[in-house]
Amino acid sequence: MTTSTAGSRPDQLSAEAQRRRTFAVISHPDAGKSTLTEALVLHAKAITEAGAIHGKAGRRSTVSDWMEMEKARGISITSTALQFPYVTKTGSTCVINLLDTPGHADFSEDTYRVLTAVDSAVMLIDAAKGLEPQTLKLFQVCRHRRIPIITVINKWDRPGRYALELIDEIQTRIGLKPTPLTWPVGIAGDFKGVLDRRTGNYIRFTRTAGGATAAPEEHIDPDRAHDAAGVDWDTAVEESELLSADDSDFDPETFRNCTSSPVLFTSAALNFGVNQLLDVLAELAPPPSGALDAEGHRREATARFSAFVFKVQAGMDSAHRDRIAYARVCSGTFERGDVLTHAATGKPFVTKYAQTVFGQQRSTLDTAWPGDVIGLANAQALRPGDTLYSEVPVVYPPIPSFSPEYFAVARGKDPSKHKQFRKGIEQLDQEGVVQVLRSDRRGEQAPVLAAVGPMQFEVASHRMASEFGAAITLESLPYTVARICDADGAEVLQRLASVEVLTRSDGVLLAVFSTKWRLENVARENPDVTLRSLVAAGDN
Ligand code: G4P
Repeated sequence: MTTSTAGSRPDQLSAEAQRRRTFAVISHPDAGKSTLTEALVLHAKAITEAGAIHGKAGRRSTVSDWMEMEKARGISITSTALQFPYVTKTGSTCVINLLDTPGHADFSEDTYRVLTAVDSAVMLIDAAKGLEPQTLKLFQVCRHRRIPIITVINKWDRPGRYALELIDEIQTRIGLKPTPLTWPVGIAGDFKGVLDRRTGNYIRFTRTAGGATAAPEEHIDPDRAHDAAGVDWDTAVEESELLSADDSDFDPETFRNCTSSPVLFTSAALNFGVNQLLDVLAELAPPPSGALDAEGHRREATARFSAFVFKVQAGMDSAHRDRIAYARVCSGTFERGDVLTHAATGKPFVTKYAQTVFGQQRSTLDTAWPGDVIGLANAQALRPGDTLYSEVPVVYPPIPSFSPEYFAVARGKDPSKHKQFRKGIEQLDQEGVVQVLRSDRRGEQAPVLAAVGPMQFEVASHRMASEFGAAITLESLPYTVARICDADGAEVLQRLASVEVLTRSDGVLLAVFSTKWRLENVARENPDVTLRSLVAAGDN
């Protein structure tokens, strides 16, 4: 299936795919993801002043403040896709597609969906804190999906841990061989610059006021580096030699196999080391290489157009109350106006309203290539995991759901609004804001909402009231674990105490249990009942 797409020459399609880098930044909240995102865009010269994209509390302007909850909490709930060109050192232009992920653990499922759409990930670590729970969890997801990782140790301008100690922690706790490409000159808290381990040069950084503009950097050859940085240079050289002796030099093959990870040191707030990260992304991160379909066959990037929806997001703009489905292009060329096929229904799908989204600004998208993200406005039929294709059919695998750990019964506050209530619940379910579970016993008016984290309930409540005009009450249920069962198993389980069987909207039967121990007991006492976990990240 390597026929080229109509309208574009095969060599052009291949070249456009080759110059794209589609990745996400994953980190524990507060490691500096938003700051780094802004710094990357600033350095690629897509914006002129840091703070223009996320604008969290205290930053200058806001581009993604569409949801009041986000503003109130100072967290980023929704994912945004940013695209910008970056001119590399050699003068070629690559196209960066940076998919933003929500930092909060309660939205892990959302992050997981975004990670189905990337070719690599930047794992951001706070130099003072090292590996944190959310970093570890997201790393597991990347490993599970075989996503190559570039590690960035951030906030080196602040007192933190020893560089070698952090490297050791990465190796021992996650089993990924760290292969530093740069090494800090100056301890954490006294960040002077980095030793470029591939050229041997000293890259000296200079602070700018408030880190608002790109930091000037000077490349000093090794002979003059000692004079420029003194003993800090000597220490950096010594430690770099120790790394080489420990076989920690960059290796492209193990990086692509996900067994090693290049490491860079940065201060996103001061814009130090950000150029180096862009260069590494351009030079080493993998370009789009097609995708495996549901049967495990690869559809090459140069085949006819195909894409899958990895996220559906509504309510971005309170003035319009619209809904955007984000699709990642896997193969071929997209031209706005193309009529595609929606694999789930077999129906034609018109793409008149394709958009690109940069922060909150949107513009019409005319053409897209493998690795790009297309925002399809008002695409009511599309759900996360859906495939779109042109001419040669393909179906990509569904996006697995996380195992919910929080359950609550939703009821409309005003019974006369039952139509709005039904519509709202259905919409939230389709978007994957929460999972919606039902049973005959509870009835249509009292669906059970299931979530990975309680903040998903807040988003659901907020949207039911403000967007659908159907305020709800939520009554927590005492369940914490869910397993998939079949109809025969459901009959047995229904009769047990502190177990309930509910039906997900895709027809899957979920047995929910009060605790892990209760689940283990039930499984032991009922060996004939098959209980399957909802595996997504390998740790559910
Ligand atoms: P997140 O998206 O991962 O949650 O992190 P975010 O970028 O919001 O950064 C969290 C805090 O860490 C912010 O401080 C930010 O300024 C700071 N920060 C990020 N990168 C660096 C860095 O390289 N060095 C230092 N020293 N600080 C960094 P804040 O006080 O919460 O907000 P703000 O008022 O500074 O924006």
